[in-house]
Amino acid sequence: MSAVANIGVVGLAVMGSNLARNLASREGNKVAVYNRTYARTEDLVREHPEAGFIPARTIDEFVASLAKPRTAIIMVQAGKGTDAVIDQLLERFEPGDIIVDGGNANFHDTIAREARIAPTGIHFVGTGISGGEEGALNGPSIMPGGSAESYETLGPILASIAAVAEGEACVTHVGTDGAGHFVKMIHNGIEYADMELIGEAYDLLRHVRGLEPSVIADVFAEWNSGPLQSYLIEITAEVLRHIDAKTGKPFIDIVVDEAGSKGTGVWTVQNALDLGVPVGGVAEAVFARAVSGKRAQRDAVRSLGLARPAAPAAPGTFVDDVAKALYASKVIAYAQGFDAIIAGAEKYGWNIDKGAVAKIWRGGCIIRAQFLNVLADAYAANPNLATLLEAPYFAQAIADGQEAWRRVVVTATQAGVPIPGFSAALSYFDSLSAERLPAALVQGQRDFFGAHTYRRVDTPGTFHTLWSGDRSEVEIG
Ligand code: 6PG
Repeated sequence: MSAVANIGVVGLAVMGSNLARNLASREGNKVAVYNRTYARTEDLVREHPEAGFIPARTIDEFVASLAKPRTAIIMVQAGKGTDAVIDQLLERFEPGDIIVDGGNANFHDTIAREARIAPTGIHFVGTGISGGEEGALNGPSIMPGGSAESYETLGPILASIAAVAEGEACVTHVGTDGAGHFVKMIHNGIEYADMELIGEAYDLLRHVRGLEPSVIADVFAEWNSGPLQSYLIEITAEVLRHIDAKTGKPFIDIVVDEAGSKGTGVWTVQNALDLGVPVGGVAEAVFARAVSGKRAQRDAVRSLGLARPAAPAAPGTFVDDVAKALYASKVIAYAQGFDAIIAGAEKYGWNIDKGAVAKIWRGGCIIRAQFLNVLADAYAANPNLATLLEAPYFAQAIADGQEAWRRVVVTATQAGVPIPGFSAALSYFDSLSAERLPAALVQGQRDFFGAHTYRRVDTPGTFHTLWSGDRSEVEIG
């Protein structure tokens, strides 16, 4: 076997096959492919003769077919499968070669793998890839971590297959070791929040405004030509318009209303908790999926017959109000997501360019949206924004939408339509806006029962009140 491939793909399930086909379709790439079961490799090669794949029966053949520096992208199920392939490649690769993990790996695993592999001189690059099956085939958004040195080889290859937004390839070297997978995790967290908010908007239009799914599909299609334009809004219109062939009913009504998940949303929240960054939008989305699956509890509470008061008449502006509430809540979700990126970068020592991240999310990925152009501009104008909400465009958007947002939350609450995403986003905004927060009372309680101390508004230092004594104040330090 001669070493002619500039890139190889290991793992030929749908994401791996599509990525391999995408690579093969770009000028200058010669793609080696390997799968644990050879039959799948044979199928891929037979079905896509145009790709000119170099199929390998064994991992040795695969490695032998790669030109140096050897570069292999692993596209297997995250977890143990990834480690097994990494070990096989490590036994055969040489210093300077590059192992790319393109799965949805936990970034902590990526950091550990990089640390384990670095002493061998082989590069390990954890890479987030977003866009699902279609993106993998036609152009995903790609978030590589790993060393700057490996990116010199890898960058052009990844740029050749990435989506293009406004003339720019949706790939950037996010940062070292686990930075790529971290940013992909946050992408997925925002994806969860965005989907939940869209779901709530649908529920409101259906159960407060009383619109049929096909009409709501038209509303979403209309929204998709304005500031809310995004892939998720676009596919929502498609899903809502779809009619089930078996029953003739709207597809939305024949789907069991229990949402699944594969874990990246949970990771986002777990890590945000560790980082001390409020990501209520993602957390509410994760919990909303969890609640949806609690069938026994849902049945028990519903059978009490207490739920859903008669819906008040929706205000005449309701559809527009929901659009504004959705937009404002979405701004909050992104603000929180970028806060998590900033905190993660600080904790793990990554130099992440927020504007560059916003730019590579403009195309290819699941959260791609018009909105990300403005977001990229906001960070370009001021990379040190304390929060995205202070950027003039977003501040204005919130100012313009605020009244509608509040009306929607009130109306939904009166109608008994659950809006954990909308209301958490609004409460977050109100918390940041408040002059004084009841955190002062929490500090008082903590000091009362546990002498946890507090700071004063008027004097520097740390204080404790002798609550069970004469209630005088002592300075602690
Ligand atoms: C992407 C998607 C992708 C996957 C989600 C689904 O960016 O292409 O995010 O990674 O479809 O992880 O996640 P759940 O199954 O948890 O909803």
